[in-house]
Amino acid sequence: MSPVTIYGLCAVAFMMAMYALERRGRIYIVGFALGCLAASAYGFLSGAWPFGVAEIVWSAIALLRLRRPATPPNSCGSVGASVVPRVRSTGVTPAPASPWTLDRARVLDAEDPIGGARRAFSMPPGVVYLNANSLGPLAAAVPARVRRTVEEEWGVTLSKGWTEHAWMEWPLRIGDRIAPVIGAMPGEVLVADTTSIALTKVLGAALRARPTRRVVLSSTDNFPSDLYVAMGAARASGAQLEVVDRTELEEALDDRVAVCCLTQVDFRTGALHDLPRITAAAHRVGALVVWDLCHSAGAVPVGCDAHDVDLAVGCTYKYLNGGPGSPSFLYVRRRLQRELENPLPGWLGHADPFGFALDWEPAEGIGRFLTSSPPVIALAALDAALDVFDGVSIDTIRKKSKALGELFVGVVADAGVPSIELASPASAGDRGAQVSLRHPRAAELLAGAADRGVVGDFRPPSLCRFGMSPLALSFEDVWHAAETVADVARSLG
Ligand SMILES: Cc1ncc(COP(=O)(O)O)c(C=O)c1O
Repeated sequence: MSPVTIYGLCAVAFMMAMYALERRGRIYIVGFALGCLAASAYGFLSGAWPFGVAEIVWSAIALLRLRRPATPPNSCGSVGASVVPRVRSTGVTPAPASPWTLDRARVLDAEDPIGGARRAFSMPPGVVYLNANSLGPLAAAVPARVRRTVEEEWGVTLSKGWTEHAWMEWPLRIGDRIAPVIGAMPGEVLVADTTSIALTKVLGAALRARPTRRVVLSSTDNFPSDLYVAMGAARASGAQLEVVDRTELEEALDDRVAVCCLTQVDFRTGALHDLPRITAAAHRVGALVVWDLCHSAGAVPVGCDAHDVDLAVGCTYKYLNGGPGSPSFLYVRRRLQRELENPLPGWLGHADPFGFALDWEPAEGIGRFLTSSPPVIALAALDAALDVFDGVSIDTIRKKSKALGELFVGVVADAGVPSIELASPASAGDRGAQVSLRHPRAAELLAGAADRGVVGDFRPPSLCRFGMSPLALSFEDVWHAAETVADVARSLG
């Protein structure tokens, strides 16, 4: 065998060994590099200098690979792994058992009953996307479906599409697809408008249904736009908005309150309100309740019917993956539908939209809350995106969501970076699908993580939000993301 062949075979063996050792952890690579250095010294001492030089080169390559960040599993490169440091963080307290290794993440993936759903999403190579709290990822079925609606339905059937493809029925048909995700019955949900408009409608309806009560109650941590909408709806009805700390909500509920308006999952911290408890407390004083489910639908079981929720709204572009600006949904409990009036009546909420009568006569059921023509192309995208929820129970999604959050928090805690602080509740049961971290250089932290393919979201001045879509992510994805975030934070000091 010629020396060239021998060195070629050795190079292949070297690469295979590197790959195997990288999967086990950085300490193994260091050991490998030291072994190469020892072999090199032996080569020089025994006069075999080409062998000595080759060993030095391999040792250098091994040490240089240690500098690489962990590679996200869906990137083009090989899967990198590093040993998780066991140093306690001052800000994020590790779980006592600290079981958050890459191997553990892989075991969780192997046991994950909904792990296959990740393949239904289209993600750029090398990206781990943790920004579903802002905009959910693209479901792979969406582009073809939108193309079909545009080219084959609109392009070919033209205005006949309204009847041939039943476009007018889509707001209710697609509402029925969202109903099981939020624990509602068919005929209790429609899809139209935007969250703010939907909220304007249900708050206006609630205020009209309680004419002797002139207070809309909300909490200071509610999404600010909801507070603006509530203020507008209250003013339009001669009522007023009262905003209290979330801990004082139940105390503030009294017989002046017409409707209590809250967001189930806090957009900043991911904290979960006790929906059953607050709903029951509001009912005890005769108030109605409106829940904003923007950060819950598709990630957290809501149980609208089980908990006797009166009214709810939510967007479809976060954990329902409907796409940028996709229409919102609106839920009205069936027993209230006759009693409540749509404060923005329009022709499509009329009992006979094409009768063009001068008098307003509301449609039966949830349809009376429609106002305008359906956004057909956006609805086609949402319809295709919802396919990933078919046959998947929201309880299974929640179970995975909690485990993903625990993994993320655990890996960051184990990394022991004192500058990182957990801004979310410590217990996974008290959070939605989002983990928020506080860091003095949060913007730089997120920019550094994004450079390495990990996408989170910045809320000034110091909040990093990581919204984890349970269907679109593997445990390994989240492990790599948390490692990367901790690594960048460590480099920022
Ligand atoms: C909790 C919450 N409510 C309301 C909104 C406003 O939604 P829209 O722009 O559809 O009115 C958002 C937007 O992100 C939100 O997060």
